[in-house]
Amino acid sequence: MALSTPVSGLSLPWLVLLLLLEIPGAGGAEEFRLLQPQDAVRVSAGETLTLTCSVTGDAPVGPVKWFKDSGGGRQLVYATAGSFPRVTRAASGSDTDFTIRISDTRPADAGTYRCVKFKKGSGADEEFRSGAGTAVTVSASPSAPSVSGPPSRAEPGPSVTFACTSGGFSPRYITVTWLKNGTKLPAPQPRVLPEHESVSYNMSSTVGLSLTRGDVRSQLTCQIEHSTLPAPLRGSYNLRDALRVPPRLRVGDPAAPVALNKSVTFTCHAEGFYPKDASLTWLENGNETNLGKSSPLAENPDGTYTLQSSLEVKAIEQRNRSMFTCRVVHDSQPPVSASQMLRISQPPPKPSKDGTSRDADQILFSSSALWIGLFLEKVLTAAFLLFLFLRSKE
Ligand SMILES: *[C@@H]1O[C@H](CO)[C@@H](O)[C@H](O)[C@H]1NC(C)=O
Ligand SMILES: *[C@@H]1O[C@H](CO)[C@@H](O)[C@H](O)[C@H]1NC(C)=O
Ligand SMILES: *[C@@H]1O[C@H](CO)[C@@H](O)[C@H](O)[C@H]1NC(C)=O
Ligand SMILES: *[C@@H]1O[C@H](CO)[C@@H](O)[C@H](O)[C@H]1NC(C)=O
Ligand SMILES: *[C@@H]1O[C@H](CO)[C@@H](O)[C@H](O)[C@H]1NC(C)=O
Repeated sequence: MALSTPVSGLSLPWLVLLLLLEIPGAGGAEEFRLLQPQDAVRVSAGETLTLTCSVTGDAPVGPVKWFKDSGGGRQLVYATAGSFPRVTRAASGSDTDFTIRISDTRPADAGTYRCVKFKKGSGADEEFRSGAGTAVTVSASPSAPSVSGPPSRAEPGPSVTFACTSGGFSPRYITVTWLKNGTKLPAPQPRVLPEHESVSYNMSSTVGLSLTRGDVRSQLTCQIEHSTLPAPLRGSYNLRDALRVPPRLRVGDPAAPVALNKSVTFTCHAEGFYPKDASLTWLENGNETNLGKSSPLAENPDGTYTLQSSLEVKAIEQRNRSMFTCRVVHDSQPPVSASQMLRISQPPPKPSKDGTSRDADQILFSSSALWIGLFLEKVLTAAFLLFLFLRSKE
């Protein structure tokens, strides 16, 4: 009885119920409504994105399509099955549920999506009703960082720049930490590009570092943290790839001066260099000699190398005061060298049979000792003759 009576005769609960149910007959045809309930959705790149849209009420003839706002216009995302490879309807064939799924999302899928109902017109379809729009953000993980060093090797001392790059991440906030052998290094904030809002970002970070001789085995690490990452990502760089440690050169001193015609050995030590390519040559008074003997390259505990070579020469008189030079060319750099002079001692005077030598004779002749000797001889001779004379008289 209640349904046929005028509205004024209904009790309040009945009125509410009627409005909620929108019972046909209470107010003519049910009004068409398009519902796009999601305001914003965030997905991680690679995941499937579900965009909800449904219609109720009396719908005019015409399709429902999905669009994405793009640069002032809009881009068709879904119209009919099969034409959009990554997009499928959740309830295929349904007249009321126009929910779609976008698989394998990528940063470029970010944007505002609208579900739009069209009405068949005389010519083209006319837009009839549009959803409120769903803002989609696709968070993307940064790529593994890659670390690069200087274009050519650097010697210990001056600051050298290293760079770390990573890309394809969203949102733009990212933290970069540099570590040398696990110890944090001071570094400026990373540069994140582009500066304007974008679907994904790239970053580059640089750090200045002074290399030391002990860095052959040291490692530089670039560590990045991002909201999409469960654990930091790391990229590393072996500092030896950026390092050149020149050799320390020294030529062993043979116990100087050496005796004439003795054999003498010079030893050249090229110590603590990196990388290992080095060549060593010997020079005698600036002339190359191939008589040097190199011992095999030795690796030191710190990763540097040591090369040794010895040169054996005979200390002939012509070599007195000769310069022996050890020259090392390391890693295609200008040669470094170290030298030693060969000093040959004057041989001691040769002892002769009568206790004198030719040299001693020369000294004797040039001195007054000779005259004293001759005088003494005469005196002795005279004394002897006097003695014989006195003996004969007895
Ligand atoms: C990020 O890096 C990639 C690869 O190097 C490049 O193709 C892309 O254009 C860069 N994007 C930006 C915003 O710089
Ligand atoms: C870094 O660590 C390596 C071994 O992990 C070590 O050989 C090297 O000496 C260290 N470098 C410095 C500068 O301490
Ligand atoms: C050294 O050698 C040269 C020639 O080989 C020889 O004439 C000279 O007597 C030698 N000298 C000594 C002190 O052995
Ligand atoms: C060096 O070699 C050149 C020719 O090879 C020679 O003429 C010169 O005497 C040599 N000099 C010395 C100090 O041995
Ligand atoms: C070598 O030269 C030094 C200095 O000139 C000299 O004192 C020495 O006697 C020389 N030795 C020989 C074997 O000539």
